[in-house]
Amino acid sequence: MSLLLSDSVSDYSAYIVFVIIFLTLYLRQRSINSLPPGPTPLPIVGNVLSYGKTPYKRICEWAEKFGDIITLYQGPFRVVLWVNDGQLAIDMFQKQPDLFSQRNPVPFMTYNMAAEGSVVWENGPAWKARRRWMITALRHFGMGKRSLEVKIKTETDIFCQEAANYHSNPFNPQHIVNCAVANIICNIAFGDRYEYSDPEFQELLQNLLKFFKQCSLKNIEMHIPSIMSLPMFKHKALPAIYLTEFVRNQVKKHKETFDPENIRDITDRLLAEGEMCDKEEKKFFNPDVMWTSLLTIFVAGAETTSSTLMWFFIYMATYQEVQDKVRKEIDDVLDGRKPTMADQSSLPYFEATTYEVQRLGNIAGATLPHGNAQECVVKGYKIPKGTIINLNLYRIHTDPKYWDDPMTFDPSRFLIDDGKKVSKPKMFMPFGIGRRACLGESMAKMEIFLVMTNFFQRFKLIIPEGETLPDLDPLVGLTMSPKPFKVCAIPRE
Ligand code: HEM
Repeated sequence: MSLLLSDSVSDYSAYIVFVIIFLTLYLRQRSINSLPPGPTPLPIVGNVLSYGKTPYKRICEWAEKFGDIITLYQGPFRVVLWVNDGQLAIDMFQKQPDLFSQRNPVPFMTYNMAAEGSVVWENGPAWKARRRWMITALRHFGMGKRSLEVKIKTETDIFCQEAANYHSNPFNPQHIVNCAVANIICNIAFGDRYEYSDPEFQELLQNLLKFFKQCSLKNIEMHIPSIMSLPMFKHKALPAIYLTEFVRNQVKKHKETFDPENIRDITDRLLAEGEMCDKEEKKFFNPDVMWTSLLTIFVAGAETTSSTLMWFFIYMATYQEVQDKVRKEIDDVLDGRKPTMADQSSLPYFEATTYEVQRLGNIAGATLPHGNAQECVVKGYKIPKGTIINLNLYRIHTDPKYWDDPMTFDPSRFLIDDGKKVSKPKMFMPFGIGRRACLGESMAKMEIFLVMTNFFQRFKLIIPEGETLPDLDPLVGLTMSPKPFKVCAIPRE
């Protein structure tokens, strides 16, 4: 009897404790009322369940309703501000870099991949030193230079040959696009390139895609990563584990054949730097920590650029009249000669098309999360130090306040001087703005320019006969990529 009584008392007290926690969290959430407005959060989960299938569209609806800066809750405690206006973004990120250049790690990503050495998830002196190191290493291996141009052109030739192998039959370009872009990165980071049919390479690319797909706001583990310790979520860690192992193996193999007199790639440079460092610097450049920077280069550089090329293809297949102009410009200016980076400024229509693909494709629909170094006031709202702040690039790139007819694909919006020059409006920011902006921008631009100009010099791209136009609504993960589609690459004689 007394045992029964004590059981029901303990059930009862567990119930009371649960209700108290529930109410405390709810009231706490509701009490942070100095923050910008936003949709009403649910207790415990916040707004996590309200993103729907297309989070970027939902956030834009909230922006419409609540304004230029809004508050969302990821779970009970994580407050996330979304900056939805371009001018406000510039005023915060570009004009006050000391205040808004902190990085707030995405827990799902740092739960799976180490943050230390990654650059992307770091702050303070370590971030500064390692970001500088990464830019120098990328430049040393060709970013913005002729040596990388040669590597990209070699890969582009292989890419075009792979496209030709489909003999004008319908194919989904994703496979060859992913292979070409990953090979360019692997070449400078690890000194390797792979055959497109190599099963190990296929597995690597599959895991990369899965990882990006998982990092979508609509997935609960993005907001509450500890959920991944539950048995039914454990498999979600596998892509990150695979990518991590791949990079660690590269470092191990490089250590076995390392020769300080012959620095072959960025991995070797990392090992050399670790050897040369004095004690003070070693804490930043120890290869046992810095291997994560190689992971960043591979993860940040491969999928983003591939998705851009895929958007380029889908828009060119959909808008034949734009493709005709792109091909005509290439033919008129190059007269059959192979494109080089020196031709970039002579191909304004191509450049304007690239901008328009990036604007409407919105590969990065948002920046990675920033944070404020100090408590501050934005638009009259008091923002506590360290609050998570995202820039809504999708909204900024489609805001009717800044773009005429924003949902229409029209490269000419970027042209001035009778189409002879390209103008880049300040509201166009596909690589982010301020101190945290993408450090691989010039490498990505080289890849897009060389791969696409070479391709359209050699092929006309059409939708397969009898097929409807592709769906231009994106698949949303960490980036926005087109849904699978098929095209025919018709060789031009
Ligand atoms: C078209 C391709 C690409 C796009 C659209 C893109 C876009 C972006 C965006 C929007 C950010 C976040 C900026 C912010 O948080 O404010 C970013 C950060 C970053 N990107 Fe890219 N990126 C591309 C290619 C690359 C490449 C090729 C690399 C390197 C090889 C790279 C490396 C990085 C790194 C390391 C960061 C973090 C910088 C930091 O936190 O200091 N990205 N990128």
